[in-house]
Amino acid sequence: MKYMGSKARLSKELAPIINKIIKDKNISIYIEPFVGGANMIEHIRCETKIGSDNNEYLIQMWKMLQQGWIPPEEISKELYMKIRDNKNEFDKEIVSIAGFCSTYNAKWFGGYAGKVKTKTGLQRDYYKESIRNIVKQLNRLKDVEFLNADYTSFSEYKNALIYCDPPYEGTTQYGTSKAFHHERFWDWVRSMSKNNIVLVSEYNAPEDFNCIFEKSLTTTLDKNSRKKGFEKLFLHESKKPI
Ligand SMILES: C[S@@+](CC[C@H](N)C(=O)[O-])C[C@H]1O[C@@H](n2cnc3c(N)ncnc32)[C@H](O)[C@@H]1O
Repeated sequence: MKYMGSKARLSKELAPIINKIIKDKNISIYIEPFVGGANMIEHIRCETKIGSDNNEYLIQMWKMLQQGWIPPEEISKELYMKIRDNKNEFDKEIVSIAGFCSTYNAKWFGGYAGKVKTKTGLQRDYYKESIRNIVKQLNRLKDVEFLNADYTSFSEYKNALIYCDPPYEGTTQYGTSKAFHHERFWDWVRSMSKNNIVLVSEYNAPEDFNCIFEKSLTTTLDKNSRKKGFEKLFLHESKKPI
């Protein structure tokens, strides 16, 4: 799914690292507490896979799609605005589809994108492209248990592999979860690392974390600006290098 901060481009390299750890260490539970567009979990092989996010609309959309729900063919600009301004009057899956799929760069209600003519004269339909993208993914998400929860709800788990892709520090915030508390998050990772293997994607981490993978990637921030950053994968120093 097209998603802000999507790991689609990195999954080719990160998923094999995660899958190897799961296999080598005989791990049976994989948890992704910031599952978003599910662009990583679709490539993970594990007995139990939990994909969770605190965006209730998004999770309801994944659950409904798993049950065979078919998104509408089109969302007009009028409908988009009506949904945006009256979320409680619509089913959550429709709110999610409007909020993510009819907007530019999948930014939550970040402006109606609809159909546009590109500089080369090509007609693009952002909504249809986005829906096609999701439908293609569904086959690989059949075995995922989707949950709507805050990341801290997984504190009781042991012997799991937990892959975290939180909102990055200093980047655009997610419409549904403003003011992410980064220090509190890293403390949680420290504590969870005692009984689990916790891997974190970020640009930077506190000093007691080791970077076990990095790759330079260009990120589109909005229509006009792009930024180059080093995508990294971190593991707490208390864990043996993998
Ligand atoms: C970087 S995105 C994940 C992208 C995903 N890995 C992908 O490839 O599509 C971060 C996600 O964290 C979610 N989020 C933000 N704060 C959260 C919290 N406190 N608990 C759980 N999820 C949260 C956002 O809704 C967003 O979907």
